[in-house]
Amino acid sequence: MSGHGTPIKMTARKSGPLTGEAEVPGDKSISHRALIFGALSVGETKITGLLEGEDVLDTARAMRAFGAEVTQHGPGEWSVHGVGVGGFAEPEQVIDCGNSGTGVRLIMGCMATSPITATFTGDASLRKRPMGRITDPIALFGAQAYGRAGGRLPMTVVGAADPVPVRYATPMASAQVKSAVLLAGLNAPGQTVVIEKVPTRDHTERMLRGFGADVRVEETSEGHVITLQGQPELRAQEVTVPRDPSSAAFPVCAALLVPGSDILVPGVSQNPTRNGLFTTLREMGADITFENPREEGGEPVADLRVRYSELHGIEVPPERASSQIDEYPVLSVVAANARGTTVMRGVHELRVKESDRIDAMARGLEACGVRIEEDEDTLIVHGMGPGGVPGGATCASHLDHRIAMSFLILGMAAQNPVSVDDGTPIATSFPIFEGLMRGLGASLERANR
Ligand code: S3P
Repeated sequence: MSGHGTPIKMTARKSGPLTGEAEVPGDKSISHRALIFGALSVGETKITGLLEGEDVLDTARAMRAFGAEVTQHGPGEWSVHGVGVGGFAEPEQVIDCGNSGTGVRLIMGCMATSPITATFTGDASLRKRPMGRITDPIALFGAQAYGRAGGRLPMTVVGAADPVPVRYATPMASAQVKSAVLLAGLNAPGQTVVIEKVPTRDHTERMLRGFGADVRVEETSEGHVITLQGQPELRAQEVTVPRDPSSAAFPVCAALLVPGSDILVPGVSQNPTRNGLFTTLREMGADITFENPREEGGEPVADLRVRYSELHGIEVPPERASSQIDEYPVLSVVAANARGTTVMRGVHELRVKESDRIDAMARGLEACGVRIEEDEDTLIVHGMGPGGVPGGATCASHLDHRIAMSFLILGMAAQNPVSVDDGTPIATSFPIFEGLMRGLGASLERANR
């Protein structure tokens, strides 16, 4: 769990060329799902390459609390003895999902159609985030939820004893909402249907199929329509987790900004619902090549070769937002180092992430000397050109791993050091960030060591 310990200030300074190989950890979205689907299956699921970040470890603990046997065998090597669809036991304790919106929302979905009651909480960041987006659709299945004002955690969910299937159009582009509804639909009879206006990351659909569920995906006049046949028997699988493109984004962007850099980031997922950032960076003039494309664990992957590049600002197409939703903080750092203006529209969902990411990036970039414009749905960064950001500030990370890492990447290319007030949230998704970046040649230190 993050946010419970002593804050650790971290500082990044102008760095020499970044070189070498950056082996980033396993994908966070797929890691949560591997544990959850393992817990909902019959038999032993074996997982390789699991992200051992705090978010995922919280999900592992939660799956144990619902009755699954979850064991670590070695680094990234885990097994889950599942209880089967509808087999969740009632947890004896409050489920603490730490910093993880994905963890709590997916788990609420999968217990919502079992006749059990569970109480959920999280850290100060997660307790501020909206859960109405999950409690609304699970109420349609027959579940009840009792939380704090504004649908905030802590919250108790009473699962439906006699669930009915649901047809649900997601009101916002959210893979967490889509996944929660599909997971709830697993233990409902008949067909559960989710309709998305814009397709979001599709790991749940891919993995449901891999575990033996009947899932159909169609493009219709209503949108992207996913139909799940309820009450399947999910069968244990061997899951290989590809490396996380959202974590790869940090060394990739650092290499683009630090003169003379040339790095390789092997085995990164190139799932088209996740790779928007790489398209955007190339439109800005980035030298990124995709070597050795192949399939691993049901996902397309490639090795990314990234060289320092002089970049220019662009208008980022709003329809690309969902395929790079977690990458806007680091993209805004890249934009600050580009020539000209970068306009990011259609990004209102950033307001309800681990922090209000538009506000967090705008305030920190301004403190580092960058001119920003923002509104509810837009972030505009006026680039200062390669190496042009003054830096010299301490930025607030707001218990948000991606905000902390983004400002540290900024410091590696800025004229003066950039600090974050607390680097501990980085452990939620990228526990090896510090060592990995230093290994490439970054100047990064804990300020109060
Ligand atoms: C995730 C979905 C996204 C993303 C999050 C992981 C998932 O959230 O930001 O980091 O694994 O389903 P939303 O569903 O809120 O867009």
